[in-house]
Amino acid sequence: RRTAILISGRGSNMAALLAAATDPAYPAEIALVLSNRADAAGLARAVEAGIPTAVVASRGFGKDRAAFEAAMEAELAAHGVELIALAGFMRVLTEGFTRRWEGRMLNIHPSLLPAFPGLDTHARALAAGVRLHGCTVHLVTPGVDEGPIVAQAAVPVLATDAEEALARRVLAEEHRLYPTALAWLASGQLRLENGRAVLNTAP
Ligand code: GRF
Repeated sequence: RRTAILISGRGSNMAALLAAATDPAYPAEIALVLSNRADAAGLARAVEAGIPTAVVASRGFGKDRAAFEAAMEAELAAHGVELIALAGFMRVLTEGFTRRWEGRMLNIHPSLLPAFPGLDTHARALAAGVRLHGCTVHLVTPGVDEGPIVAQAAVPVLATDAEEALARRVLAEEHRLYPTALAWLASGQLRLENGRAVLNTAP
């Protein structure tokens, strides 16, 4: 199914999704990489991979989130997008947008939700002294980082860890987890039912 990846920066999760989607058997086709920043490093990687890209500069819309999202919707429609994967997309989406894409939009978050929603997750995990940390793929609902959990991967927190080392360990898991979760959504194995993510992996 035709999928857009929304980014704001580096795009390493985007790259992991693009790599997975080069397999003809992969159920998601990456139809568009959309960035809200023209300077997102991930855009160049998408162009290199031959994927259509678009920039809808959120800055140009000031506080008018509805107008920003309408411009994004126009790009999504122009590329026949059916599913969205948020991958380091740093804008909060309105309730209207998330409702419209309910059950069709995933996000990856660098913590074991519901612990550490929001920013600076690795520093906060270190400060809290947790022994396990990780990443979560969830369906997107209006509450930020609150949607139904689809999949998680855990990593140990080591006594020697600084933020960068921990972030690197989590990121490696993100790159494994997200392609799997998107494949579930695109194949129809993953559905939103009564506010829960239901996974049917039976043949
Ligand atoms: C990742 O840690 C992701 O979990 C979070 O933002 C970061 C984006 O990194 N939402 P990248 O742009 O995918 O490299």
